[in-house]
Amino acid sequence: MKTLGPETIEQRLLALARLTQPGSLGVTRLLYTPAWHDAQALVYRWMEDAGLCPWWDAVGNVHGRVDGASETTILTGSHIDTVVNGGAYDGAYGVVGAIWALSHLKQRPFLRQSVEVVSFCEEEGSHFPITCWGSRALMGEVTPGDAKTICDPDGVSLRQAMDAHHLNADKISEAAKDYAAFVELHIEQGPWLEAQGKDIGVVTSIFGQERWTVRVKGVSRHAGTTALRDRHDALIAASRMVLAVQDVANSSEHIGIATVGELHVIGGSTNCVPGDVVFHVDLRAETDRVRQRLAGQLTHHFQQIAQSTGVTVAIEKNTDERMVKMDATLQNVIAGSCRSQGLSFMPIASRAGHDAQIIGRKIPTAMIFVPSHQGLSHHGEEYTAPEQLQRGVAVLLQTLEQLAQGLPGVGQDQSFATPNVLPGRWFG
Ligand code: GLV
Ligand code: MN
Ligand code: MN
Repeated sequence: MKTLGPETIEQRLLALARLTQPGSLGVTRLLYTPAWHDAQALVYRWMEDAGLCPWWDAVGNVHGRVDGASETTILTGSHIDTVVNGGAYDGAYGVVGAIWALSHLKQRPFLRQSVEVVSFCEEEGSHFPITCWGSRALMGEVTPGDAKTICDPDGVSLRQAMDAHHLNADKISEAAKDYAAFVELHIEQGPWLEAQGKDIGVVTSIFGQERWTVRVKGVSRHAGTTALRDRHDALIAASRMVLAVQDVANSSEHIGIATVGELHVIGGSTNCVPGDVVFHVDLRAETDRVRQRLAGQLTHHFQQIAQSTGVTVAIEKNTDERMVKMDATLQNVIAGSCRSQGLSFMPIASRAGHDAQIIGRKIPTAMIFVPSHQGLSHHGEEYTAPEQLQRGVAVLLQTLEQLAQGLPGVGQDQSFATPNVLPGRWFG
């Protein structure tokens, strides 16, 4: 199967969506679960059908490749894992679309540089408290020690979970590789492209992101016999902290977003004053300065609330990713591909996190977005129309082809591209 039409891209996304953990709403495919393994195995088969000579790397990323004349390699792809109750398009589209593009590149008689597709094993951080496990391994940023110490909520370490899939954590460093550039195709996950009526988003930067685990300790007591004034109620304190998260984000005059998406009363029961609460904060901002300022304000509020409610609070940062700019030359190549195909496009900053954030710190990186219907994502009803999926993969193919033929200057210019300064440099 060398040439795939728009229906096939959608059909493949739906085939992957069927590989989900039992009982989930939408798609739940967490790292190193049976559903995850089945999905990577299916991706492997698709790469094999396209003649991309696939292989699994040390952490369970699946790669395929079209060889060019030189050793240097352009990388494309995205992730195969999902959030709990996620959608069929987030990550999977960039994998299926990249296989489609490489199946076409495979037909070209000559490529200067090689092109590789990767289906990253993990990006979301929804199973273990680390995001982008696959791309971090590819960039040489994780160690066997990390696999031993990072555990899921049931106390299972990454190493143990890898063992179950015959992946040897001692060989993690073998996953690291060098690439000349990375281009990730993805759904937008927000409402802006649809609202502006644009076919394609050329990503300019990815918001910095922090994830915190916050533990509030009070004193658990009898709910009937403990007077309100004598309580050290961890849930009352945590609830005030949740509202402080919203207030701090609201008060930011710049774009800052903060969310509490998970909260647990540990050992709670109806007739007990809660003594132990854990919740998680997701904090993002358009610049690192704004994010750091919001983080400082939040910490201050949490400490004040703890003091006034007679509890203690401990904050642990699990993720601290700074904002990353996308490569300006690559943005121009993508814009040129849109122009030559008569597609409308706009520059857009990504508020969602991506593997491109990890890779973009090291090598020239860019992202191509397609619209998300009603901006819905991390939801079972995530949707992008087949013709929009096809436009995105066509832009990816043309972009990769330009890069594979040896584009000069990639990575030399890190200034933001804007609509007025996106020259038709490569396509007149
Ligand atoms: C990943 O999708 C994130 O933005 O959290
Ligand atoms: Mn994603
Ligand atoms: Mn996601």
